[in-house]
Amino acid sequence: MSATILVVDDQRNIRTTLSRSLMLEGYRCDGAETVAETLETFAANTYDLVMLDVQLPDGNGLDVLAELKAAAPDVPVIVMSGHGTIDMALEAIRRGAHDFIEKPLSIDKILITIRHALQFAGQKRELQTLRAKVRAGSELIGRSPAMGELRETIALAAPSKGRVLVTGESGTGKELIARAIHDQSLRADKPFVKLNCAAIPSELIESELFGHEKGAFTGAHQARKGKFELAHSGTLFLDEIGDMRMDVQAKLLRALQEGEIERVGGSRTIRVDVRVVAATNKDLEAAIAEGDFREDLFYRLNVVPIQAPPLRAHKEDLPDLARAFVQRVCEENGMREKGVEPQALELLVKHDWPGNVRELRNACERLVILTPGPTITEPAVRRLLGEGKTMASGLYRAGVPMRDLVAEAERSIILAALAAHGGHVTQTAAALELERSHLYKKMKALGMRE
Ligand SMILES: Nc1ncnc2c1ncn2[C@@H]1O[C@H](COP(=O)(O)OP(=O)(O)OP(=O)(O)O)[C@@H](O)[C@H]1O
Ligand SMILES: [Mg+2]
Repeated sequence: MSATILVVDDQRNIRTTLSRSLMLEGYRCDGAETVAETLETFAANTYDLVMLDVQLPDGNGLDVLAELKAAAPDVPVIVMSGHGTIDMALEAIRRGAHDFIEKPLSIDKILITIRHALQFAGQKRELQTLRAKVRAGSELIGRSPAMGELRETIALAAPSKGRVLVTGESGTGKELIARAIHDQSLRADKPFVKLNCAAIPSELIESELFGHEKGAFTGAHQARKGKFELAHSGTLFLDEIGDMRMDVQAKLLRALQEGEIERVGGSRTIRVDVRVVAATNKDLEAAIAEGDFREDLFYRLNVVPIQAPPLRAHKEDLPDLARAFVQRVCEENGMREKGVEPQALELLVKHDWPGNVRELRNACERLVILTPGPTITEPAVRRLLGEGKTMASGLYRAGVPMRDLVAEAERSIILAALAAHGGHVTQTAAALELERSHLYKKMKALGMRE
């Protein structure tokens, strides 16, 4: 698709020469010679770019620029200026013009400038769509009062520098909340850095947080910045803070109090401006009582407490969540979007979801992948949830030793296989790829009688 360009100049010969050259290059062109005509034409049509003279009979280019930018901020404007008007052209750039070109015009230079401007505008648009997509993927879904309240708290907390402690069960969206706080803060265009305190061996966590100098310990061949330095001017998200060792907690407390850190093996103090958001699914107050978490650190972190509600507290959001996840998975896999049967949704709403939204999302992902047709049906959901029950919650019970659980699993597998083969042991053994004698021995050991 060729771009459409508006050429604004009061000199007719410039307009026609320029337009002709541009059309030869495949652009479409319109012309305007006064401020009034420019604004009128611009409002009536869609342009990809404007070439703008600074001196017009009824005003100057700066005034036009302001109006164009207000109406269509993403359309690049290239200013054309004569010798006497360079200052004005520079001022135009300050006010948002893309570039300027001096008169007398060189057609080659104009073509290059236009090509660059259009490319730049295209990339900017692409980036905006990508950003919107990413944002949509990390948006909190749900219209329930619980989610409404959560959103309100986030909106109130986000703009301040106040530390936030996000608590809640596993899979309730704590990380999503931390990101939302960053995205809605004044630091949104600064780094968001995450450290999962549970995923890092405890002896490495100090260097992860504060960095280290060369030679600080065996293997430290190079100096390295820690997450605090990387998050400077932005947000540091300390996930699973409840799993942080006591001695590291003391160092973190100092960093929060002083706003400065020292790298491991270093002696310089480094000032850091970091907003900390922490999250945990542990009960930190209980951990304090047990002596596993520092009370002073808790109060430092818990300036704004935010609770992520468990899914059972906002089940009315489940249909929205399920549909959104199904849509997302389809999109990610390049599939046409699948629908979800109302009865299927109903079954999903009735289910328990001990793993909260994360578990729901995984279930939706499997449903999409296992459903070849255009609609996710009730039987498909029933199969998935039934399967989940025996696989996960049915087998494990607190206080029962592993060998008993395994025996129980083996027994029910053998029973199911026997049933499927009409009690025929030889066929059952073949189906399980066991020697017949081995199956017999196993059944005997498990206390099973034919
Ligand atoms: N309200 C919500 N809207 C949309 N997606 C959500 C919502 N809540 C959770 N999710 C999704 O569920 C998944 C789990 O969320 P997240 O990782 O933020 O949970 P978490 O609380 O940090 O869990 P854990 O304690 O296990 O680390 C993510 O894919 C997230 O996008
Ligand atoms: Mg998490």
